Amino acid sequence: MVKKGIFIVIEGLDGSGKTTQAAILAEKFFKTYNVLLTAEPSSGKIGNFIRECYLYENERLPTEAEALLFAADRIEHMHNEVKPALDKGKLVICDRYIYSSLAYQGSAGLSLDWIKTINTRSLQPDLSVFIDVSPEKVLERLQRKKSVMETLDTQRKVREVYLKYVDNGELIRIDGDKEKRLVAEDLYRVVSGLLKDAKKFV
Ligand code: TYD
Repeated sequence: MVKKGIFIVIEGLDGSGKTTQAAILAEKFFKTYNVLLTAEPSSGKIGNFIRECYLYENERLPTEAEALLFAADRIEHMHNEVKPALDKGKLVICDRYIYSSLAYQGSAGLSLDWIKTINTRSLQPDLSVFIDVSPEKVLERLQRKKSVMETLDTQRKVREVYLKYVDNGELIRIDGDKEKRLVAEDLYRVVSGLLKDAKKFV
């Protein structure tokens, strides 16, 4: 079936400001478009399980189990929220998607090909953006209890994988070290460009 809407993904390290930026972006488009602002881990059963039973434990799970949990959450999220919204022609803005699995589980040693294989049932985004902030800075910003992922070593390795996908053109890098308002403007410019090209909405 032909996808009618537009699917935008926003990626970044923990504390990179991507959730705030996704919300600002959605707000800017709310007036003109039918927007779904959503996130992974999702608010479905598997996403809640990940948040409540795993992220704030002392140790990470075996990496294969992590990847399978996130992939299962993604399938539930696609089925319940993203696909129905796209079928209605909505603009879907998703805070984290497959690149999070590639970056977080890939940097922990899993094969990127295997991660892609277990995610083949999920849709291809139209545009994926990486909000780039240095690992030192993001950890400084995080005031709340840190999750199992939020160590300097992990965040550095995660960033390396994200940057590989910037280099091969799959992710568009946005400088997240700038002032919040300027990051929001850059993000808006990139997404508006895509919408104009797609000629679906504008
Ligand atoms: P986060 O965006 O911080 O969600 P929330 O604000 O709901 O806590 O994501 C939680 C963590 O999950 C983050 O450290 C990245 C990790 N994660 C993965 O390791 N793989 C994935 O596929 C996804 C979607 C997230």
